[in-house]
Amino acid sequence: MNLRDLYINFFVEKGHKHIPSAPVVPENDPSVLFNTAGMQPLIPYLMGKKHPYGTRLVDYQKCIRTNDLDEVGDKTHHTFFEMLGNWSLGDYFKEESINYSYEFLTRVLNIPVERLAVTVFEGNDQIPRDEVSANIWQKLSIKKIAYLGIENNFWIAGDSGPCGGDTEIFYWRSKDPIPESFDPEDERWVEIWNNVFMEYYKSPEGKISELENKNVDTGMGYERVSAILEGVDDNYLSSVWIDVIEKIETIANFSYQGNEKSMRIIADHIRSAVFILGDPSGIKPSNTDQGYILRRLIRRAIRHARKLNISMDTNWEREIAEIIINKYAKYYNELTQNKEIILDELTKEKEKFNRTLEKGLRELEKLIRNLGNQNIIDAANAFKLYDTYGFPIELTEELAKEYGFTVDTEGFKAKFKEHQEKSRVGAEHKFKGGLAGDSEAETKLHTATHLLNAALKKVLGNNVHQRGSNITSERLRFDFNHDQKVTEEELQKVEDIVNIWIKDSINVEVIEMSKEQAIKSGAECMFIERYPDMVTVYKIGDISKELCGGPHVKNTSELGTFKIIKEEASSAGIRRIKAILL
Ligand code: ALA
Repeated sequence: MNLRDLYINFFVEKGHKHIPSAPVVPENDPSVLFNTAGMQPLIPYLMGKKHPYGTRLVDYQKCIRTNDLDEVGDKTHHTFFEMLGNWSLGDYFKEESINYSYEFLTRVLNIPVERLAVTVFEGNDQIPRDEVSANIWQKLSIKKIAYLGIENNFWIAGDSGPCGGDTEIFYWRSKDPIPESFDPEDERWVEIWNNVFMEYYKSPEGKISELENKNVDTGMGYERVSAILEGVDDNYLSSVWIDVIEKIETIANFSYQGNEKSMRIIADHIRSAVFILGDPSGIKPSNTDQGYILRRLIRRAIRHARKLNISMDTNWEREIAEIIINKYAKYYNELTQNKEIILDELTKEKEKFNRTLEKGLRELEKLIRNLGNQNIIDAANAFKLYDTYGFPIELTEELAKEYGFTVDTEGFKAKFKEHQEKSRVGAEHKFKGGLAGDSEAETKLHTATHLLNAALKKVLGNNVHQRGSNITSERLRFDFNHDQKVTEEELQKVEDIVNIWIKDSINVEVIEMSKEQAIKSGAECMFIERYPDMVTVYKIGDISKELCGGPHVKNTSELGTFKIIKEEASSAGIRRIKAILL
């Protein structure tokens, strides 16, 4: 049985509810571009909010980490990965958590106890040394225990949020005899599972306080553990990757041996691109945020495909993506649903990049010849390669390195930021139209979103429902189910209806009620299971009634003029509207 299924089944038997993977792009957390750990979508619940599925949860979560993009190409690094995790939200704590992990590893995965070792938190001046965990391990006959400090055995996502000391489980991956004493620095010991005891909260100012609940958050890397169980020391030779690698070998007509780096990069980056494009968030390649990461991943894969002499006139990118989509279809059906979008976007980006890549490469070679023994590409030239030829910075760096050159990356980043800042200010200037402040603008757009939702139902039918929403101070973005493009006339009607409601000066009421009552009363809601028992419902006359956290304006007359600026496909069967208030 697949490791995912083994994991889920084991914890379900221990009273956990299997929750679906959240989208890889966080829905309500603009502070991160992608989920980087299984716990990220669960932060509100680790902070004390009641989870609709109870206090014991288990899942496999889509994650993306791009902090060490340039390490991808070796045996173990990936940008996209899956994290297996189980949680206790104020339910069990150290004793059960450690016992469950031990039982899963030794009885379900049949890992010999002697191949396991653990680290526990040695404590600091605020938090005591974790003797409790150490004792539990000892009772389970794990004797290889190392105490490590805050930099190793204390876990937090980013700089602030729920956090706590952890115990990490290591596996002896080598054929060498297992040493008597455990040295976590010895790379033959690989970390396979992290059990975090989340009992603290770190504020953005750095203050540590106790959380309402003592929680458990664990994470196990699916790719790494699969490779270990299969006894391969190169993750890309495990069953997670091998058919993708074989496909690349066939397409390129080269073998993996000797071409590992390029083949790993192609496999990894195309897989990440497939998951980002297949996510319900509807991200497309662009020059900002997630879209820019996506673009860089695809472009780097293209460049390595060219290195392997793969012809750009073939459908190589689609063939690789299709293998990945099929491979994951059983676990992530959004990939099948969005298959056409994934394949088309990959091809579009390939064609777009290949139009400028040749010219860019010639420009770079010229540059390198002219620089002579200066050996560094300055920020201005790196930025020109980006701006004119679409070269992401790591591509310039990689190419430069092949010529023995370096790049002023910091200088490039500063220029890039300056450039983004300029376009942002430009866009705000265009859209803002004299609004007082960001939060006021966002509040108005919140209310406009409810009106838009109601107007779409009037024009397109009552089976239109919200599928996503995102608000910045400049615009609203609204995703909804609808099978075809919304016509110009329909959009005009929607816009007119919203503007009439604004002119009608309708009061916006907020009512507290139980969730059950809210559903009975027909209030609209996207993820009913994510709401607590008592909810707030915003009611706009007879027009709209929605479960929502707010904030909203008091009267529709405050909104000004509503304008739709774009309608497009977001993913299969889902359309996206962007609109502003003038
Ligand atoms: N959140 C913990 C981690 O990512 C489990 O390692």
